[in-house]
Amino acid sequence: MEIDLGPVSMFERLPALVEIGTGFFYLTRQRKKWVLLSTLCPHQGGEVLWEEDSAEFVCPLHGWRFDACGKTDPGNPGLKKYSVREVRGRLRAKISV
Ligand code: FES
Repeated sequence: MEIDLGPVSMFERLPALVEIGTGFFYLTRQRKKWVLLSTLCPHQGGEVLWEEDSAEFVCPLHGWRFDACGKTDPGNPGLKKYSVREVRGRLRAKISV
């Protein structure tokens, strides 16, 4: 199912926190592609927060850190990703809620 996130112009500052259904996601760009990242830490489900100073997502529960692409230390899973496509100036996410 595709969810309309709104016009591209709404997302000048990234990562942007977006609400879809009952969940939150970070919209960002990776190698010129739009991507949604889950805000849920793959360790035990903490809600990761974007830390502007270090340009990382940080989980407040046990301190796992994720880079801007959602990757963390080798051997640990990164933040779950969902693809986003741009259609006539609007962003559409493939995600089930
Ligand atoms: S739940 Fe995020 S580091 Fe443990």
